[in-house]
Amino acid sequence: MQAASETIELLNNRVSVRAYKDEDVPEALIDQVLKAAFRAPTSSNIQSYSVIMVEDPDLRQQLAVVTGDQKHVVAAPVFLAFCADLTRIEHVMNQRGHTLRDNNMEIGLVSSIDASLVGMSAYLAAESVGLKGVMIGAVRNDAVATARILGLPTGVYCVFGMCLGWPGEAPPQKPRMDYSTMVHYDRYGALRDNRDVGQSLGDYDAALAKHYESIGKPTTPDSWSHDMDKKFDPQLRDNLRRELKELGFDFR
Ligand SMILES: Cc1cc2nc3c(=O)[nH]c(=O)nc-3n(C[C@H](O)[C@H](O)[C@H](O)COP(=O)(O)O)c2cc1C
Repeated sequence: MQAASETIELLNNRVSVRAYKDEDVPEALIDQVLKAAFRAPTSSNIQSYSVIMVEDPDLRQQLAVVTGDQKHVVAAPVFLAFCADLTRIEHVMNQRGHTLRDNNMEIGLVSSIDASLVGMSAYLAAESVGLKGVMIGAVRNDAVATARILGLPTGVYCVFGMCLGWPGEAPPQKPRMDYSTMVHYDRYGALRDNRDVGQSLGDYDAALAKHYESIGKPTTPDSWSHDMDKKFDPQLRDNLRRELKELGFDFR
């Protein structure tokens, strides 16, 4: 079926791009992208995010180290850090004799959601003008180090970074799981296609393994299942709760 809109078409064709042409992206274009992104919905209008355009090659290099030496963090023409930012709320509360010091899980979550919605909106706006990119969650490998590099005050943490540039590669799309296994009707578990979850995941493992083999990436026959098990056992970023608390986000 023909896509019903350009946005749907854009999303249907989307893929993370990690190599870019050696061609500048005008700052005025990024301004437009971000201004549009800032129209994203925001919980109770709190607008608890800030974005840092990281231009200094030395800072990029330091961030790349935190991310496990991801070379696109240095090479991308544009690197944006999408941060959850509680400082403006704290400012007005302090003026009124209150404090956010005892902040809780809710404000940590909504500010992270706010930053993520703005990030995804920016990503889509960038794609709509021909830019491509990839989000960089690996800045949370060491949230405190990232905060130090970016000079973040207490009450701000980098939720994820984003590399953007004019595409220098056109990678094939990574397959997604079956739509029919992800969409439930009225009650969790009521699917249009009541296939056994093990069977669906087995099919997905096979499709992903085929994809990785086609691009020469080492994999196993149980590709996705294997990757998830390896990623979360032992626990990923087990220091994050302590690090975020140090940065003023008490997820309790
Ligand atoms: C929050 C978030 C963090 C991510 N972090 C990284 C990262 O640090 N490095 C990277 O190369 N890709 C990163 N990605 C990209 C994912 O690996 C990618 O979206 C996923 O494998 C699916 O591939 P696709 O985007 O090409 O469809 C991240 C994506 C998201 C949404």
